[in-house]
Formats: sequence, structure tokens, C-alpha cells
Amino acid sequence: MPSLIRSLLFRLFLIPCLFIANLICFPFSLTKLLRFIRITASHDDADNEKREEELQTGLQRELMPRHVAVIMDGNRRWAERAGMMTSQGHKAGAKRLKEIAELCFGLGIHTVSAFAFSTENWGRNKIEVKCIMSLIQYQLKSKINYLHREEIRVSVIGDLTKFSESLLRTIHELEEATKIYKNKHLILAIDYSGRFDMLRACKSIVKKTENGLIREKDVDEALIERELLTNCTDFPNPDLLIRTSGEERISNFFLWQLAYTELFFTPVLWPDFDKDNLLEALVSYQRRERRFGCRV
Ligand SMILES: *[C@@H]1O[C@H](CO)[C@@H](O)[C@H](O)[C@H]1NC(C)=O
Repeated sequence: MPSLIRSLLFRLFLIPCLFIANLICFPFSLTKLLRFIRITASHDDADNEKREEELQTGLQRELMPRHVAVIMDGNRRWAERAGMMTSQGHKAGAKRLKEIAELCFGLGIHTVSAFAFSTENWGRNKIEVKCIMSLIQYQLKSKINYLHREEIRVSVIGDLTKFSESLLRTIHELEEATKIYKNKHLILAIDYSGRFDMLRACKSIVKKTENGLIREKDVDEALIERELLTNCTDFPNPDLLIRTSGEERISNFFLWQLAYTELFFTPVLWPDFDKDNLLEALVSYQRRERRFGCRV
């Protein structure tokens, strides 16, 4: 029975081979095993963290707004109540914006837009306007490292014609330096007005028509949206608008863009608007059934 012996010998020969192969492969499989354990563990960790956060905040990631707009009202009143100067109120407001934007980005919100200074504000006394302008310039300039570290893109929209040369330069540099960042977008509406935005869009469309670039039948909602100043973000229409300090108006902020936005008003003054207030607004948003103008 030579074939039986041969097969037996072959099997005997296989044993050391397997042993050697195992010996060679063992470190690889070990690292693979370790990596697998680590991946599943970190996956579990992330899942747990997420669940814990949702339990804590009562929020669901899937229902998070992509764009949150805020009208930051109440800086002045806050300063008055605290017996401080108006400029200190604005400073506290700027600090609050940074904190709230940070919280929003941390929750996965893509775009935060802030109504920082409206066209109507030019009517205020000259010194206050000057103060606000220099505060804006200082804030923008001093935040550049922070913005890079956090990978936040900044855009400034509004009627920039009344701004000083140096503020314009600061804005331009900041926008250019941060436009590479795709996941967090902070939009500052400074000397912005909704009607101004729509007027501008109309003028631009008329001009393009005169130049034969577009015809009447090309003008639709998408085209108008592309002409509005919010064309800088992927999510031009806010899902949620928060207005502080008890005012319940739009006050010429985004007009076209707010068509289906959920509105949240709170009596809290902007410098006092904290994490709990933000979470309250977001929970309120997530409880609403959004229909985008459709009847169900
Ligand atoms: C965005 O809108 C502004 C204002 O109308 C316009 O000047 C600009 O060209 C638009 N940008 C793009 C990419 O269409």
C-alpha cells in the first residue's frame, strides 16, 4: 500500500508546515485581532457617547438643522441692566456668538448665520456705530488662528459699501483664508437687509438679461437663489431662526430665505443666551413637523 504510506507521509509533512505558517502569521493575525478589538471598542465608545449626549440633550442627530440663523438682540439692554457701557454689551454679545456657534458646530450643524448689524443700525449715534465697527474688525482679526484650528469658514454678507478700507481688507483676507473649510460655516450679516439682498439679485438678473446672458424663461427660484448673498453656503435657507430679547419680528433679516424656517423667540437677552437656551430652541425645533408648504 504505497499510496497509503505516501498520503500518511504527506500529512506528517503538513504538520510542521502548518506550525511554521502559523508561527509566521501569528504576529499578523495578532495585530489584526488587536486592531479589530480597538475598532469595535472605539465604535462602541462613539456610539455610547452619541447615545449619552442624546439622552442628555434630548436631541436626535438625524433631525439636527443644517442651518441655524440668529438675530442677536439685547446687547444694549444687557449692558444697561448690568450698569455697563453699551460697548461692553456688544463685546459680551460677540463672545456669546463664538460660544453658540461652537456648540452648533459641535452638534453637527453646518451653517450658523448671525445678524450682527442691520442697515437700520446706521441711524444710531455715530460713536456707537464706530465702536461696533472696530469691535467687528478686532474680533475678525483676532480669531484667525482659532478659525484655522477649528476649520471654520467665515463669510461676511451685507452692503459693505459704507465699510472702511481696512475693514474690507480684513474681511476679504479672512474669507480667502478660510474658504477651504467645508464642514463649518459662519456667516456674519453685517449691514445686511433682506430687501437689499433681493433688490441686488433683481438688478443682477436684469443686467444679465440686458446682456443676453439669460432669458425670461430661465428665471426660476433656483436662479434667484444663486443671486442672493447666501449663495456662499450649501444650505442658504435656515431651518431654524432664533431671535432673542423678546422681539418677535424678522426685522428685514433674510426674507426669501426664511420662507419655511421654523421661528424660535425667547425673552433671554443675547449675552445671556447660553447652552441650555440653545438646546431648548433645538428641542423645540425637533418637535415640530416640517411641511415645507405642503398640506398633509
Ligand atoms: C453670489 O451672489 C452675489 C450677489 O448677487 C454675486 O455677486 C455673486 O457673483 C454670486 N456668486 C456666485 C458664485 O454665483
